[in-house]
Amino acid sequence: MDIMQREILFPRDEIQRRVRELAAQISNDYSGHELIVIGVLKGAFIFMADLIRALSIPCRVDFVRIASYGGGQESGGRTVLTKDIETSIRGRDILVVEDIIDSGLTLTYLVDWLKERNPQSLKVCAFLDKRRRRKVSFEADYVGFTIDDGFVIGYGLDFNEQARFLPEVYIIKQQ
Ligand code: XMP
Ligand code: MG
Repeated sequence: MDIMQREILFPRDEIQRRVRELAAQISNDYSGHELIVIGVLKGAFIFMADLIRALSIPCRVDFVRIASYGGGQESGGRTVLTKDIETSIRGRDILVVEDIIDSGLTLTYLVDWLKERNPQSLKVCAFLDKRRRRKVSFEADYVGFTIDDGFVIGYGLDFNEQARFLPEVYIIKQQ
C-alpha cells in the first residue's frame, strides 16, 4: 500500500461540521451530567480532542491502549489491553471514543472489560464505521461517518504510524 496514492474522503470542514453535530447530540443526551470520556489510543486522540472541546457539558478524560495481534492491517483474533484507565468509573457515565470500527472485535472486548467495573452507563462514539466488515455484531451509539471497505488514513488514523497528523481523512487508492 502506498500512502501517497490517496484521495480525500472527508475534508476538514465536513469533519468539523459532523463533530459539532455529534457533540451537540451527546451534550443533549447527557444534559446535567458529567461524562468520563475514554479514548482508544492512538487513533482516537485527534477526534476526541475536537469532540470534547465542542461539548457543552463537563467531562473528564482517560485513555486505553489496545493491541490486536495476528492480522496485519486487519484485526486478528487476539485483543490485549496494553494500557488501562487510571480513573474509577464505578457509577459513572462513560463514553468510549474510537477512531474506526472494522471487525468490531476491539470494541466488543473493550466494552466487556469496562462493564466489569460497573459504570452507571456506557456508550460508544466512533468517528468512522466500516459496517460491512463486521466479524462480530457491534453497534456504536454515535457514529461520525459510515464508510465502505477500503483503508483510510488521516485525522488520527495511520498506516504504519504515518499520516495521523493529516487534518483530512483520505482513502488509499487500490493499485
Ligand atoms: P476492529 O476490527 O477490532 O478494529 O473493529 C478497529 C481497529 O482497526 C484499525 N483499522 C484501521 N486503521 N485505517 C486505519 O488507520 C483503517 O481503514 C482501519 N480499519 C481498521 C484501527 O486501529 C481500529 O482501531
Ligand atoms: Mg485503533
